[in-house]
Amino acid sequence: MSRTAYVNGAYLPLAAAAVSVEDRGFQFADSVYEVWAVRSGRLFDAQAHLARLHRSLLETRIAAPMSEAALMAVIRETMRRNKVRDGIVYLQISRGAAARDHAFPPPSTRPSLVVTAKSLDRPNWAARAANGVKIISAPETRWARRDIKSVNLLPNVLARQRAKEAGAFEAWFVDSEGFVTEGTSSNAWIVDSKGVLRTRALSNAILHGVTRAALLQLARERQIKVVEAPFTIAEAQAAREAFISSAGNPGVPVIAIDERPIGDGEPGPLTKALRAAYLGAASPQ
Ligand code: PDD
Repeated sequence: MSRTAYVNGAYLPLAAAAVSVEDRGFQFADSVYEVWAVRSGRLFDAQAHLARLHRSLLETRIAAPMSEAALMAVIRETMRRNKVRDGIVYLQISRGAAARDHAFPPPSTRPSLVVTAKSLDRPNWAARAANGVKIISAPETRWARRDIKSVNLLPNVLARQRAKEAGAFEAWFVDSEGFVTEGTSSNAWIVDSKGVLRTRALSNAILHGVTRAALLQLARERQIKVVEAPFTIAEAQAAREAFISSAGNPGVPVIAIDERPIGDGEPGPLTKALRAAYLGAASPQ
């Protein structure tokens, strides 16, 4: 099926959908983005992703191109035109197109809005959950505002490619103190050697994952011992379980880190239970 993208007011065939060469997203990565999961035709955690988008816009001083209600209408129409029942929606807002200048463009410059929707590669999605994935570690080389979902993703791209070349699915960034921050496009979790579920606390060091928040809540509701504290690669390698979370990959088991198996090298029971709870219980809207 040919895909359709929304670009600045028009729904266009993907091949014809384009922004200006002077778009500041293209020139400077002067833009923010969001990714929603679509499951059974519904957007998961719709409001939480919208709230984070709003925060990213505020922090970067990029104007919202339209109201949240209008944005939701564009998202739903893009899903409909692409017949996406299970997949993802991608949305990007840049500071707009203007003659290249590092400082902000004239206030009359309209922000650019792009929305695409894509169906899930279901066999691979299911295989990752069933078999687990491998992780490599990589030095943290990103900017200091990783809480902003910005398109400034070059370090993420380079680390992810290194992971791929090493036969792994994801890379975990490790900060200068030896603690894991997060993955290139996911949050990082372990069930430590004492059985405590651990993920790094919120700060500017990581993206405030919407799936992370939902999984934390589900864990607490189930009286699972949770601490929001950082861990090292050595602690992760000695953990009972490890997993990653993102809208597209909620609770995907990690079976090896830097080629060292985690636990018995199989997806762990707590990971599986949390994923099942999330997919079954998260309140789609
Ligand atoms: N990535 N950390 C980073 C660096 C991310 O890019 C993402 C999401 C997450 C998880 O956030 P959430 O649970 O809200 O999806 C954590 C999206 C999916 C992406 O870049 O495609």
